[in-house]
Amino acid sequence: MCGIVGAVSTRNIVPILIEGLKRLEYRGYDSCGVAVHQGGELRRARSTARVAELEAEVARDTVQGGTGIAHTRWATHGAPLVHNAHPHFSRGPGVSEAQVAVSGGTARSGRIALVHNGIIENHDELRTELVARGYVFNSQTDTEVIAHLVDHLYDGDLFDAVQRATARLRGAFAIGVFCRDEPHRVVGAREGSPLVLGVGTGDHAGETFLASDAMALAGVTDQIVYLEEGDVVDLQLGKQWVTQRTASGEHRPVQREVRTVQAHSGAAELGPYRHYMQKEIFEQPRAIADTLDAVPGISPELFGDGAHRIFKEVDSVLILACGTSYYAGSVAKYWLESIARIPTSVEVASEYRYRDSVPNPRTLVVTITQSGETADTLAALKHARALGMAHTLTVCNVATSAMVRECRLAYITRAGVEIGVASTKAFSTQLVGLFLLTLALAQTRGHLTDAQEAEHLKALRHLPVAVQAVLALEPQVIAWSQEFARKENALFLGRGLHYPIALEGALKLKEISYIHAEAYPAGELKHGPLALVTAEMPVVTVAPNDALLEKLKSNLQEVRARGGELFVFADADTRIESGEGLHVIRMPEHYGALSPILHVVPLQLLAYHTACARGTDVDKPRNLAKSVTVE
Ligand code: M6R
Repeated sequence: MCGIVGAVSTRNIVPILIEGLKRLEYRGYDSCGVAVHQGGELRRARSTARVAELEAEVARDTVQGGTGIAHTRWATHGAPLVHNAHPHFSRGPGVSEAQVAVSGGTARSGRIALVHNGIIENHDELRTELVARGYVFNSQTDTEVIAHLVDHLYDGDLFDAVQRATARLRGAFAIGVFCRDEPHRVVGAREGSPLVLGVGTGDHAGETFLASDAMALAGVTDQIVYLEEGDVVDLQLGKQWVTQRTASGEHRPVQREVRTVQAHSGAAELGPYRHYMQKEIFEQPRAIADTLDAVPGISPELFGDGAHRIFKEVDSVLILACGTSYYAGSVAKYWLESIARIPTSVEVASEYRYRDSVPNPRTLVVTITQSGETADTLAALKHARALGMAHTLTVCNVATSAMVRECRLAYITRAGVEIGVASTKAFSTQLVGLFLLTLALAQTRGHLTDAQEAEHLKALRHLPVAVQAVLALEPQVIAWSQEFARKENALFLGRGLHYPIALEGALKLKEISYIHAEAYPAGELKHGPLALVTAEMPVVTVAPNDALLEKLKSNLQEVRARGGELFVFADADTRIESGEGLHVIRMPEHYGALSPILHVVPLQLLAYHTACARGTDVDKPRNLAKSVTVE
């Protein structure tokens, strides 16, 4: 979602803030901004262009200082315009407009500067109160109320003011704040949105940092503290101090462990690729191999201590996830029911938490999330727990994330950092983790013989090679993408285990190429969507050689009979041949239960190359952000 960086130092920290923003830009890129303490004042630059432009602007206008905060925004309240960009300045009674610029360029200001990630639900009520006190609002954001509230509560101690201000906020937030009157201090707070504290090392011992993600501080420090819900952190030169809000609303000092964190600076290198998405598609063989690296054999303990007892106790699985992760869960449902013989339901997290459902305490609640910070999925997990379902497990790509901390058991995929907003390698590694979960549950429930385990493990271990062979189809997919680039609509068909793959293919295409795409189980076509089929509607079909192949072939005939043009990814032995209106790309081999992991790859490539042909911003598609930390 939004990205926050902050620092207290004796050197000019603007380059560090800008570099941090570049690393976080994938989280939200509607606007960006930086504010520093300079010459006894607060100095700010904001832009609706990319961070590179902001960098040029601060250099031109010599914005520099040792204490500051910066932000990259994904708009929730207020359009992506400069006056809504963070940092926001407080403008209290008696502060003239000239002291707080309302649009563009660099500006000097009043007392408080603030950045925020999250949503303040009671912003209307606070706004009314603050307007009555003489505060002037210059934006449509919910964030600006926090800047004014901190200003209003400020009495010479920023830490105290932030503690008191955050007690009045409802919703989710991570904030970074500093004050004109305290030149060497930044205060942060988190409640529902991620925030870390960094501690300087070596020549820069004494510096302190704040960030939404440790990755923002790569190359600056690897000494990281993960802040927890309710934490307020005081950053000064050479010292940092954390308190946590107790249930009674008081703040008590807490010790938080400083961890050495591999900050993945290499993830930001593009290498020979045009975009991160392309790089990440091609990283899948390695990501899958890494994810399988720590798997000597199938056992519940792959998911953490105590997993065996929990797996014995549960009689069903409830999967909660959003977007691409939800589709991974939808594939897993087929595996869990057919291989582990355990009843499984999959729910869109944002729907589940508001649904009046019937809880079963013997359910294993499985969340799937690449980032581990998705607000809807976290809220759904908490809802399930509140309903009495204590057996929780996550399949997640970030070991230090809130989701991993919240769940009893976890499987950490090793996709590495995924920067492209469109999820690719995270999806295929989620599927690997979910297949392992299926096998572990099957084993515990007596549905997995040693021979079956050996066969599945062999297929898993061969996957990187099999995916590599699919990647070699790229030139054929590029040829198709030229035609897709001219279309405005597309249909995707799949059956059974591959229906979620059709859904994922359609999501990828719409997300980055802006072509309207829908997916259907192929058997559903004649129940309505067939009416859409014309020569202008490409119909992409996932056609593995499985039990549903003959049914699928009949569905394809239905499309051809109406003049529809078919683009089929068919397994080698399906005997579906290219002909008029029927284009076929042959997949190298049929891969049984793991076939979805192969079939999703050409769909990722098709979306990617179609988007390139249309000239869209592949890694930063409009209106989206990598990690959705607001509801
Ligand atoms: O981090 P998560 O896996 O929880 O994210 C869930 C979705 O927001 C995410 O998968 C989204 O759908 C992707 N951008 C799709 O490519």
